[in-house]
Parts: sequence; structure tokens; C-alpha cells
Amino acid sequence: MKIKKAVIPAAGLGTRVLPATKAMPKEMIPIVDKPAIQYIVEEAVKSGITDILIIISRGKSIIEDHFDRMPELETKLKAGGECKRELLNEVVGVAKLANITYIRQQEQNGLGHAVLQAKSFVGNEPFAVLYGDDVIIGDDPCLAQLCRVYEKYGMGVVGIKEVSGDHIHRYSSMKVSYMSENIYKITDMIEKPPKGKEFSNFSILGRCILQPEIFDILERIPYGFGNELQLTDAMKEIAIKDGLIGIDFVGNRYDMGDKLGILQASIEVGLKNKEFGNEFKAYLKELVKTF
Ligand code: UTP
Repeated sequence: MKIKKAVIPAAGLGTRVLPATKAMPKEMIPIVDKPAIQYIVEEAVKSGITDILIIISRGKSIIEDHFDRMPELETKLKAGGECKRELLNEVVGVAKLANITYIRQQEQNGLGHAVLQAKSFVGNEPFAVLYGDDVIIGDDPCLAQLCRVYEKYGMGVVGIKEVSGDHIHRYSSMKVSYMSENIYKITDMIEKPPKGKEFSNFSILGRCILQPEIFDILERIPYGFGNELQLTDAMKEIAIKDGLIGIDFVGNRYDMGDKLGILQASIEVGLKNKEFGNEFKAYLKELVKTF
């Protein structure tokens, strides 16, 4: 079965990026000229997704505005003639990327609680989750890699990567056994493992494909780490019962919920920019000599 629906949780408080995120959603922080969440929506669309639910919260309606039409701006750009045509197409194109709807998570009770808000949108079919602050850039869209694995195995799939031993306690840790190429079977997991409780350095980073059974689990499990409803705790049940498939995906992942991640994203994407990438590279080369 093809995956057509995706959920993007973007309702979090973004406390790791304060004060920038006091009034502005971290998902709207730009990487060069596009907000993070646009990269994520574009990845979903390139992966075959047609319907997207973005989970937002108070103060985040700027995300809705970004994916809406803006007649005043369009009229102005149209009047600018040929030289503004490309910009006009881009601005209109953003509003036509997919069928996007929104729901508010009224209290920030964690990623699992955010995903639970998607229950009626999802209905009875498998769906993708793309974390709203995880931008993944690569020639083969990350979610498309997960979709292909889902079509092959028909089981829940999570995007995984190895993180350093010093950092694994900030993420989730997967119990994995190798299957083939970059594919692993996952049979257990733990969210934010204390030292000594890690299964491996493999962590879920930003993408999964889940069956609707996840909602029943989320509705009955207790709140976990940080007194939040953890998506990892719900996926753990499925991993122990049926197993999940982990794909060590190809692509560069940027954590837009982290100050260093935001800087890395801007520099790497900026260096690849067709218009000014070379100039930027020359600038950086000179700059590093002074440090
Ligand atoms: P994070 O845990 O990184 O987001 O969740 P956060 O709570 O904003 O992070 P802090 O405050 O800096 O630690 C990953 C994704 O899930 C969303 C976030 O917006 C982010 O895109 N999320 C998180 C929700 O939608 N609701 C929540 O209650 C928590």
C-alpha cells in the first residue's frame, strides 16, 4: 500500500532555541531562503504524500500563512513583469504543494501527544510522521527511502542513524539486528536512555511510518520521560510485539531545534547555493584564517 498521508508535529515550545523561539516557531527558522518546515513538506511531496496534517499550537499560525496564497504580494510580483516571474511562481507554488490541513495541540504534552491529535485525520491507513524540526536533505528524499521499505515489508518503519556515544542519552536508543544493506530489525527501544541503559548508538531521527494501531497504544500508555507522552514508548510496544524495520537512511540531517544544528544547516546549504555558494566558500576560507 502506498503511503499518502503525513503528519508533521510542529507544536513544541522549542526551548532549546530560546529566545529566538519565544514568538517565532522553530519550524519557521530559515535555512538560507526557505523555512525549515518547507523543506520537510517538499520532502513529503517528493516521496508521494498528497495529504499533510501539521500539528500547530498557539502563536504558530504563521505556519498556516506560509503555505497559503498571498494575493497582495502576488499582484505586486505580477506587476514586476518578467524579472519577478520566478519569485511569483515560487510564492504561488508553496501554496499548492499539497493538501495541507492543521490542528492545534492545546497543551505541549510531548511528541506522542502531538501525534495523537492526528487520529481522525489518519483514519485506518498507514501514515508517515516527519518531525517538524528535523530537516533531512539528500538526492533521494528520506521519506521515499522509508516508503520503499514499507512497501517491501509491510511493517512499521523508522529512519535511524548512529549518534555519538556522548549524545545518545539525548535521543532514543534502538535494539537492532542487522538484516541487509542499510536495513535493521528493531525489537526494543528506550527514550533518552540513562548511561548504561543504551541498546546501541542507533537512534530514530525524524522520520517514521506507522500503522493506526499506534493511536490505541498512545491512548493507554502512561506519560514517560519528562512527564511527556512519548512516541518512542508507544513504538517500543510494537517493536517488542511485532518488530519494526529501521533504515539507516542516506541524507544530511539538521536538527533545527538546536542552535548548532541551525548554524550547520545554513552553512552547508549556503555552500551549495548556485547563486552565491562559491563566494560564500571564499568568504568562509578567509574567515577561518582569522580564528
Ligand atoms: P522536540 O522534543 O524536539 O520539540 O520535538 P520541543 O519540545 O519543541 O523541544 P525543546 O523544548 O527545545 O526541547 C520534535 C518535534 O515534535 C514537535 C516539535 O514542534 C518538534 O517539531 N512537538 C514536540 C509537538 O508538536 N508537540 C509537543 O508537545 C512536543
